[in-house]
Amino acid sequence: MGEQKKRVLSGIQPSGQLCISNYIGALKNWIKLQDEYECIYLIVDLHSLTVEQKPADLRQRCYSYVAQYLACGIDPERSLVVIQSHVPEHAELTWILNTITYMGELNRMTQFKDKSKNAKNINAGLYTYPILMASDILLYQADLVPVGADQKQHLELSRNLAERFNQRYSPTFTVPEPYIPKSSGRIMSLQNPDNKMSKSDENENNFIALLDDEDTIIRKVKRAVTDSGSEIVFSDDKPGLKNLITLYSCYSDLSPKDIENKYVGKMYSDFKQDLGELIAESLKPIRIRYEEIISEKDYLSKILSEGSDKASYLARRTLSKVYRKIGLV
Ligand code: AMP
Ligand code: TRP
Repeated sequence: MGEQKKRVLSGIQPSGQLCISNYIGALKNWIKLQDEYECIYLIVDLHSLTVEQKPADLRQRCYSYVAQYLACGIDPERSLVVIQSHVPEHAELTWILNTITYMGELNRMTQFKDKSKNAKNINAGLYTYPILMASDILLYQADLVPVGADQKQHLELSRNLAERFNQRYSPTFTVPEPYIPKSSGRIMSLQNPDNKMSKSDENENNFIALLDDEDTIIRKVKRAVTDSGSEIVFSDDKPGLKNLITLYSCYSDLSPKDIENKYVGKMYSDFKQDLGELIAESLKPIRIRYEEIISEKDYLSKILSEGSDKASYLARRTLSKVYRKIGLV
């Protein structure tokens, strides 16, 4: 990888099944940005431990996620695919950043507030989660971080920590910029459009997984909550329908206005049938490629080992600098 290109970094937790909101909010941009940037894409397994995981499932899921990244179009010739725990510097830098993060900053994090409302296990990791995320980003001197809108506050903390460290010692970290899709940074749940679509949702009808088959996708879209009425309109008063139109727009490149026009005089059921088919058609090649890739364990291991070698080199360079600046011998 050349030195001149700017760097992109992002990651997804291997919890639950990767779903279309992850694709629209994050992966789609990851793929696009490969043309112009030097990209590092993580599977943030350490983050996923903040919720209890079954060891065998977690191990299997990490491989599955790598294969899904590749099936979606992440190109290992151009981008590094890295499992976070393979590069111990992430945890090391986290400790240093812990010491410059204020409790007040963490107390304000809305994701922690939301997650700890329902969690049986409110562990310290859930609380310090955003610091580990900051270390993922700052360790590689990332310029740009493509994520969904829900990660905006976490990114703000990463920026603040970079600036604080740079000011306290001397310029060390690149201050990262967020890269968030404008209209589709927040895809909502199919059954409960007041909540975001989440891959760890217990109710599978709330999301469409990237590996769902055609029948499942069409059934889930058919069952999606729409609002009373019959007109296909894109309006805040109809959050369920608005979300489905947003999805339609993401998968067709038609604007919400075009979609309204296309469905004048048509019924919800027509619209939903078309949307289901549209999504199914777009996910089919991903599913086929995934089936090919997942059976090639040696190939996946090779990509991961190359990824972590190159990432470790970059990470070590930053961490040595940090240790030196703060006076560790
Ligand atoms: P997570 O599922 O929380 O591990 O998120 C992985 C990536 O997908 C992050 O960049 C999130 O911002 C993005 N993402 C997750 N849920 C949504 C959603 N409902 N709408 C848009 N982006 C999302
Ligand atoms: N916190 C992010 C999420 O829940 C995942 C994540 C971890 C991440 N480290 C990151 C995203 C670094 C971008 C960059 O979605």
